[in-house]
Amino acid sequence: MLLDNQVALVTGAASGIGRASAQLFAREGAKVVVADIRETKSLATVESIRASGNEAVFVRTDVGKMEEVKRLVDETVSNFGRLDVLYSNAAAYAMGSTTAVSEIDWDRTLDVCLKATWMLAHHAVPVMLDQGKGVIIVTGSNHAIRGYPDYAAYQAAKGGLLALTRSLAADYAPAIRANAILPGGVITDLWDEPTDEDLEIASRTTPLKRIGTPEEIAQVALFFASEMSSYVTGTHLLVDGGFNSMHLLEGHLHDPNARKYL
Ligand SMILES: NC(=O)c1ccc[n+]([C@@H]2O[C@H](COP(=O)([O-])OP(=O)(O)OC[C@H]3O[C@@H](n4cnc5c(N)ncnc54)[C@H](O)[C@@H]3O)[C@@H](O)[C@H]2O)c1
Repeated sequence: MLLDNQVALVTGAASGIGRASAQLFAREGAKVVVADIRETKSLATVESIRASGNEAVFVRTDVGKMEEVKRLVDETVSNFGRLDVLYSNAAAYAMGSTTAVSEIDWDRTLDVCLKATWMLAHHAVPVMLDQGKGVIIVTGSNHAIRGYPDYAAYQAAKGGLLALTRSLAADYAPAIRANAILPGGVITDLWDEPTDEDLEIASRTTPLKRIGTPEEIAQVALFFASEMSSYVTGTHLLVDGGFNSMHLLEGHLHDPNARKYL
């Protein structure tokens, strides 16, 4: 049990990577706080964890709002007495180039995808420092390290997360470790149902010849959450089936079907 007697808070845990991580952390012994804006799906995550004999609670939270984030951290501590692993994973974004995206959409994307991690850490770090230890994990994206058309706000947010991860690592070491996961394409609720053609393009553009699963990202989150990564902080890991190691072939950049896997 890699997280025995620990308390983990996972945002965006109603589905996808967050749900798989919450479930895996619980199987490894953690008590889990499931945070999301979607109630029905979050309660299903909680039920699945309880059904396997582990502890979880749902705290409905819009991670783009400071007062809700503060309440989330407070309720985590009042429910379970401590906070060992903060996994800032939720995201929602507006597509568009710099000129196409509105100020409202820019602000909301930055709030949910970037400022949320600062707000979560702002409230969680003092709890972790009091305990003498803690771990922060952030879900970035390969958009953090590459530029693609029509993702101005999302890419700015994801790039900022890498810098914030380094700040958290520098400011709070040695008590707290902070690392980011940069997933490649993973089939989750973030996407519309992929077509056979989508999957074929993903297999052509990815050395491992397929799109990833939420569980494969969760395994890396467990590595960062646990003592398995005790000498790892302030860095990131691409979990992309090798996508970023391969030079894109002519034509892929202009193929709208390919773009969503980039
Ligand atoms: N799926 C991919 O291909 C992919 C690739 C790279 C990065 N990511 C990142 O992975 C993370 C998880 O996404 P996913 O793919 O599992 O998608 P998902 O849609 O399954 O999960 C995202 C969750 O965030 C929640 N959420 C949205 N806005 C919120 C808010 N304001 N407050 C609280 N919760 C909110 C959603 O309800 C949802 O449950 C995100 O940070 C995303 O940017 C995903």
